[in-house]
Amino acid sequence: MIAIDGPAGAGKSTCARLLAARLGYRFLDTGALYRAVTCRALWNGLDPSDEEAMAALAERVEITLVAGPPMRVVLDGEDVTAPIRGPAVSNAVSTVAALPRVRTAMVRQQRAFAAAALRDGTGVVAEGRDIGTVVFPDADVKFFLDADPRVRAERRAKERGDGDVASVQREIEARDKMDTERDVAPLRAADDAVRIDSTGKSEADVLAELERAVAARAKRRGGN
Ligand code: C5P
Repeated sequence: MIAIDGPAGAGKSTCARLLAARLGYRFLDTGALYRAVTCRALWNGLDPSDEEAMAALAERVEITLVAGPPMRVVLDGEDVTAPIRGPAVSNAVSTVAALPRVRTAMVRQQRAFAAAALRDGTGVVAEGRDIGTVVFPDADVKFFLDADPRVRAERRAKERGDGDVASVQREIEARDKMDTERDVAPLRAADDAVRIDSTGKSEADVLAELERAVAARAKRRGGN
């Protein structure tokens, strides 16, 4: 199990996906789960801060991550890969993710995903905000990936084909603030995480750093 945490736009998803492909592991995008629940809530006209309603929804929905590339997210049989990345979901997801009962339901799904992979003899690269601290505290290797806020906003804006970098930066900073300040499972680096700042680095550079750390850990374990 490899855990990758960090704020929005730090390059977690891309690097986690590439690392999983290199290692032959499954990729678990935990943000996609919170986004899928948020998407369904908005479509159903629910208030994203209504814990009772949101918890009931989170416990009821069936979310499947279909391995790619490109990975697809299926919610109750419906492909929501594109809508979960839209601005409406991005603006509401941190409100939903701060609700303790929603997190309990999502963490259960994440652990079930990992258990199924392990039963098949496959490892997992999981990325999110609380993977190394809460979801998989016994992960073999933990990373905390960060980058300068302006660089993170530029990356996100480019991914979305959105020229308004300043507004993307405002959105991700608002989300990071909520994710960092919430009471339950806030965004933070695990004490034993390898910290990587991806500012000014290419995806290939970051991937190489991740692979080196994973190889070093495997070697240390082999030597024990
Ligand atoms: O990773 P992504 O940007 O898609 O995550 C969307 C949101 O989902 C985050 O801003 C955060 O509010 C929530 N999230 C979380 N815990 C995780 C993964 C995502 O709270 N492990």
